Amino acid sequence: MNPEVTLRPFDLADLDDFYAWASDDLVSVWCCFDTYTNKEDLLNFMKRFVLPHPWMRAICYYGRPVGAIVVTPHRGEAQCRGELGYMLATQYWGKGIVTKAVQLVLRTVFEDLKDIERIEALVNLENVRSQRVLEKSGFTKDGVLRKYLIHKGKVKDIVLYSFISTDPLE
Ligand SMILES: CC(C)(COP(=O)(O)OP(=O)(O)OC[C@H]1O[C@@H](n2cnc3c(N)ncnc32)[C@H](O)[C@@H]1OP(=O)(O)O)[C@@H](O)C(=O)NCCC(=O)NCCS
Repeated sequence: MNPEVTLRPFDLADLDDFYAWASDDLVSVWCCFDTYTNKEDLLNFMKRFVLPHPWMRAICYYGRPVGAIVVTPHRGEAQCRGELGYMLATQYWGKGIVTKAVQLVLRTVFEDLKDIERIEALVNLENVRSQRVLEKSGFTKDGVLRKYLIHKGKVKDIVLYSFISTDPLE
Protein backbone atom coordinates (compact mmCIF):
# COMPACT_ATOMS: atom_id res chain seq x y z
CA MET A 1 0.00 0.00 0.00
CA ASN A 2 1.43 3.38 -0.98
CA PRO A 3 1.91 5.61 2.08
CA GLU A 4 1.28 8.84 0.11
CA VAL A 5 -2.48 8.17 0.28
CA THR A 6 -3.97 8.19 3.79
CA LEU A 7 -7.45 8.59 5.30
CA ARG A 8 -8.50 10.57 8.36
CA PRO A 9 -11.65 12.17 9.79
CA PHE A 10 -12.50 15.69 8.63
CA ASP A 11 -12.07 18.82 10.70
CA LEU A 12 -13.59 22.27 10.15
CA ALA A 13 -10.05 23.48 9.37
CA ASP A 14 -10.39 21.45 6.12
CA LEU A 15 -12.97 23.92 4.77
CA ASP A 16 -10.68 25.54 2.17
CA ASP A 17 -9.41 22.21 0.86
CA PHE A 18 -12.97 20.77 0.79
CA TYR A 19 -14.15 23.83 -1.17
CA ALA A 20 -11.63 23.02 -3.93
CA TRP A 21 -13.62 19.97 -5.04
CA ALA A 22 -17.09 20.94 -3.73
CA SER A 23 -17.04 24.11 -5.88
CA ASP A 24 -16.01 22.25 -9.06
CA ASP A 25 -18.73 21.38 -11.61
CA LEU A 26 -16.56 18.58 -13.01
CA VAL A 27 -16.83 16.82 -9.64
CA SER A 28 -20.39 17.70 -8.59
CA VAL A 29 -21.89 16.66 -11.93
CA TRP A 30 -21.44 13.02 -10.80
CA CYS A 31 -22.49 13.59 -7.18
CA CYS A 32 -25.82 14.24 -5.49
CA PHE A 33 -24.92 17.76 -4.28
CA ASP A 34 -25.10 20.97 -6.31
CA THR A 35 -21.82 22.84 -6.85
CA TYR A 36 -21.01 25.03 -3.84
CA THR A 37 -20.60 28.70 -4.66
CA ASN A 38 -19.71 30.02 -1.21
CA LYS A 39 -17.77 28.72 1.76
CA GLU A 40 -20.43 29.56 4.34
CA ASP A 41 -22.89 27.07 2.81
CA LEU A 42 -20.14 24.46 2.73
CA LEU A 43 -19.22 25.17 6.35
CA ASN A 44 -22.85 24.54 7.33
CA PHE A 45 -22.84 21.29 5.34
CA MET A 46 -19.65 20.20 7.10
CA LYS A 47 -21.16 20.94 10.53
CA ARG A 48 -24.51 19.34 9.72
CA PHE A 49 -23.45 16.29 7.69
CA VAL A 50 -19.70 15.69 7.42
CA LEU A 51 -18.52 15.87 11.04
CA PRO A 52 -21.43 13.85 12.54
CA HIS A 53 -21.29 11.19 9.78
CA PRO A 54 -20.52 7.70 11.16
CA TRP A 55 -17.88 6.94 8.48
CA MET A 56 -16.64 9.77 6.30
CA ARG A 57 -12.94 10.38 5.75
CA ALA A 58 -10.66 12.90 4.07
CA ILE A 59 -8.52 11.37 1.32
CA CYS A 60 -5.08 12.89 1.97
CA TYR A 61 -2.31 12.99 -0.62
CA TYR A 62 1.02 13.59 1.06
CA GLY A 63 -0.96 14.74 4.11
CA ARG A 64 -3.22 17.27 2.37
CA PRO A 65 -6.98 16.63 1.93
CA VAL A 66 -7.71 16.28 -1.80
CA GLY A 67 -11.01 14.41 -1.65
CA ALA A 68 -13.58 12.61 0.46
CA ILE A 69 -14.68 9.00 0.84
CA VAL A 70 -17.74 7.82 2.70
CA VAL A 71 -19.52 4.63 3.70
CA THR A 72 -23.09 5.25 4.78
CA PRO A 73 -24.61 2.40 6.78
CA HIS A 74 -28.18 1.45 5.95
CA ARG A 75 -30.79 0.80 8.63
CA GLY A 76 -33.38 -1.80 9.53
CA GLU A 77 -33.42 -4.93 7.36
CA ALA A 78 -30.68 -3.33 5.19
CA GLN A 79 -28.26 -2.74 8.08
CA CYS A 80 -25.97 -5.48 6.73
CA ARG A 81 -24.90 -3.13 3.96
CA GLY A 82 -23.33 0.27 3.50
CA GLU A 83 -23.10 2.55 0.46
CA LEU A 84 -19.72 3.78 -0.75
CA GLY A 85 -19.19 7.22 -2.27
CA TYR A 86 -16.09 9.28 -3.12
CA MET A 87 -14.87 12.40 -4.86
CA LEU A 88 -11.49 13.88 -5.68
CA ALA A 89 -10.25 17.35 -6.67
CA THR A 90 -9.81 17.34 -10.47
CA GLN A 91 -6.12 18.25 -10.46
CA TYR A 92 -5.40 14.90 -8.77
CA TRP A 93 -7.43 12.68 -11.13
CA GLY A 94 -5.70 9.80 -12.87
CA LYS A 95 -2.98 9.13 -10.28
CA GLY A 96 -4.69 6.08 -8.76
CA ILE A 97 -5.49 8.03 -5.57
CA VAL A 98 -9.13 6.99 -5.15
CA THR A 99 -8.37 3.37 -6.02
CA LYS A 100 -5.84 3.37 -3.15
CA ALA A 101 -8.36 5.11 -0.87
CA VAL A 102 -11.03 2.48 -1.64
CA GLN A 103 -8.54 -0.27 -0.85
CA LEU A 104 -7.80 1.43 2.51
CA VAL A 105 -11.54 1.62 3.23
CA LEU A 106 -11.99 -2.10 2.57
CA ARG A 107 -9.17 -2.90 5.03
CA THR A 108 -10.85 -1.09 7.92
CA VAL A 109 -14.55 -0.48 7.42
CA PHE A 110 -15.82 -3.97 8.26
CA GLU A 111 -14.06 -3.69 11.65
CA ASP A 112 -15.32 -0.16 12.26
CA LEU A 113 -18.95 -0.82 11.25
CA LYS A 114 -19.64 -4.23 12.77
CA ASP A 115 -23.10 -4.82 11.24
CA ILE A 116 -21.92 -4.35 7.66
CA GLU A 117 -21.12 -7.36 5.49
CA ARG A 118 -21.59 -5.77 2.09
CA ILE A 119 -20.37 -2.48 0.67
CA GLU A 120 -22.20 -1.37 -2.43
CA ALA A 121 -21.65 1.44 -4.88
CA LEU A 122 -24.23 2.84 -7.29
CA VAL A 123 -22.54 4.44 -10.26
CA ASN A 124 -24.04 6.39 -13.13
CA LEU A 125 -23.66 4.24 -16.28
CA GLU A 126 -21.80 7.13 -17.95
CA ASN A 127 -19.27 7.49 -15.12
CA VAL A 128 -16.63 5.17 -16.54
CA ARG A 129 -13.80 6.51 -14.32
CA SER A 130 -15.69 5.56 -11.19
CA GLN A 131 -16.56 2.11 -12.56
CA ARG A 132 -12.87 1.54 -13.32
CA VAL A 133 -11.94 2.46 -9.71
CA LEU A 134 -14.34 -0.19 -8.38
CA GLU A 135 -13.19 -2.84 -10.83
CA LYS A 136 -9.53 -2.19 -9.93
CA SER A 137 -10.45 -2.47 -6.23
CA GLY A 138 -11.97 -5.96 -6.51
CA PHE A 139 -15.67 -5.04 -6.55
CA THR A 140 -18.13 -7.29 -8.39
CA LYS A 141 -20.42 -5.77 -10.99
CA ASP A 142 -23.86 -7.00 -9.90
CA GLY A 143 -25.66 -5.52 -12.88
CA VAL A 144 -27.29 -2.49 -14.39
CA LEU A 145 -30.35 -1.03 -12.67
CA ARG A 146 -32.28 0.44 -15.57
CA LYS A 147 -33.99 3.82 -15.09
CA TYR A 148 -33.19 3.51 -11.39
CA LEU A 149 -33.03 7.06 -10.05
CA ILE A 150 -33.39 10.70 -10.92
CA HIS A 151 -30.03 12.49 -10.97
CA LYS A 152 -30.08 16.25 -11.50
CA GLY A 153 -33.51 16.04 -13.09
CA LYS A 154 -32.84 13.09 -15.44
CA VAL A 155 -33.73 9.43 -14.99
CA LYS A 156 -30.50 7.41 -15.04
CA ASP A 157 -29.31 3.84 -15.54
CA ILE A 158 -27.12 2.86 -12.59
CA VAL A 159 -24.39 0.21 -12.38
CA LEU A 160 -24.51 -1.65 -9.08
CA TYR A 161 -21.19 -2.88 -7.64
CA SER A 162 -20.58 -4.78 -4.41
CA PHE A 163 -17.77 -5.98 -2.19
CA ILE A 164 -18.47 -8.61 0.50
CA SER A 165 -16.47 -8.73 3.74
CA THR A 166 -15.00 -12.13 2.77
CA ASP A 167 -13.98 -11.07 -0.77
CA PRO A 168 -10.21 -11.02 -1.41
CA LEU A 169 -8.51 -7.63 -1.02
CA GLU A 170 -6.52 -6.32 -3.99
C1 LIG B 1 -14.15 8.95 -10.23
C2 LIG B 1 -12.95 9.52 -9.47
C3 LIG B 1 -13.21 9.39 -7.99
C4 LIG B 1 -11.73 8.70 -9.89
O1 LIG B 1 -10.62 9.06 -9.06
P1 LIG B 1 -9.11 8.83 -9.58
O2 LIG B 1 -8.21 8.91 -8.39
O3 LIG B 1 -8.83 9.76 -10.70
O4 LIG B 1 -9.20 7.33 -10.09
P2 LIG B 1 -7.97 6.38 -10.42
O5 LIG B 1 -6.83 7.20 -10.91
O6 LIG B 1 -7.76 5.50 -9.23
O7 LIG B 1 -8.57 5.48 -11.60
C5 LIG B 1 -9.25 6.05 -12.70
C6 LIG B 1 -9.31 5.04 -13.83
O8 LIG B 1 -10.23 5.51 -14.80
C7 LIG B 1 -9.58 5.48 -16.07
N1 LIG B 1 -10.17 6.53 -16.89
C8 LIG B 1 -10.00 7.86 -16.80
N2 LIG B 1 -10.71 8.47 -17.75
C9 LIG B 1 -11.36 7.52 -18.44
C10 LIG B 1 -12.25 7.53 -19.55
N3 LIG B 1 -12.66 8.65 -20.10
N4 LIG B 1 -12.72 6.32 -19.99
C11 LIG B 1 -12.33 5.18 -19.42
N5 LIG B 1 -11.48 5.11 -18.36
C12 LIG B 1 -11.01 6.28 -17.88
C13 LIG B 1 -8.13 5.73 -15.75
O9 LIG B 1 -7.31 5.35 -16.82
C14 LIG B 1 -7.97 4.84 -14.51
O10 LIG B 1 -7.89 3.46 -14.85
P3 LIG B 1 -6.46 2.70 -15.07
O11 LIG B 1 -5.69 2.83 -13.78
O12 LIG B 1 -6.84 1.32 -15.42
O13 LIG B 1 -5.74 3.44 -16.17
C15 LIG B 1 -12.71 11.01 -9.81
O14 LIG B 1 -12.59 11.12 -11.18
C16 LIG B 1 -13.81 11.93 -9.31
O15 LIG B 1 -13.74 12.49 -8.20
N6 LIG B 1 -14.87 12.11 -10.14
C17 LIG B 1 -15.99 13.00 -9.77
C18 LIG B 1 -16.83 12.45 -8.62
C19 LIG B 1 -17.32 11.04 -8.89
O16 LIG B 1 -17.51 10.63 -10.01
N7 LIG B 1 -17.55 10.30 -7.78
C20 LIG B 1 -18.06 8.96 -7.87
C21 LIG B 1 -19.55 8.97 -7.95
S1 LIG B 1 -20.16 7.26 -8.12
